[in-house]
Amino acid sequence: MNGVFELFPVKFYRNHYQQHGLVSALLGPQLDQLFESQKPIRSLGNTITTYGRGQDMLEWEETLLLKDWTDWILQSVRQYWDSMEFDSGVEPFFINMWGNIQKTDIGLQKHRHSYIAKHKVSTITAGSFYLSASPDQGRLIVENPDSVARSFMPLADTDDGFTQELDVYSGDLVLMPAWMLHGVTSNISTTPRVTIAFDIGYRSRQ
Ligand SMILES: [Fe+2]
Repeated sequence: MNGVFELFPVKFYRNHYQQHGLVSALLGPQLDQLFESQKPIRSLGNTITTYGRGQDMLEWEETLLLKDWTDWILQSVRQYWDSMEFDSGVEPFFINMWGNIQKTDIGLQKHRHSYIAKHKVSTITAGSFYLSASPDQGRLIVENPDSVARSFMPLADTDDGFTQELDVYSGDLVLMPAWMLHGVTSNISTTPRVTIAFDIGYRSRQ
């Protein structure tokens, strides 16, 4: 089931890239090398990430013939934005792109992608592309941002009542608002979960 869907009253977006095996083959070896040289980040639940390590994967786009894939992601972002009636005079662009890996028993602490100060541009949409994923490798967990519901139902204010989990699979793309609090449940399989994450900004259409 691809296309726009809603959780709480918030619009999310899912799509699936048929040639994801090709993306894995092109990115995998370089990513593995990068992951090997990184230490797990304790504040992120011991996920290993290339984020902020001076290895922005956008530079790989040209050399690794990944433009079809990144163009497909940007088209998906446009569909998502159209559903929210974003101004057609602006277009999405990648602010940055990085890799994450969660091995057995590792998850990803909840976080947001609103890093305006760091990048001098506003991240409006956060995205993940799943190179190797399945429910056992970790489910995407998103937290209900509805503080009104929280204040009226304090007894239900638990992780179970106020989060939703999504199954994601290799080749899936998921987009959400940058401010959305989200994480990943523990990988209960023996296969590492590998994702490419990115921040999307907007600029005037050229
Ligand atoms: Fe994230």
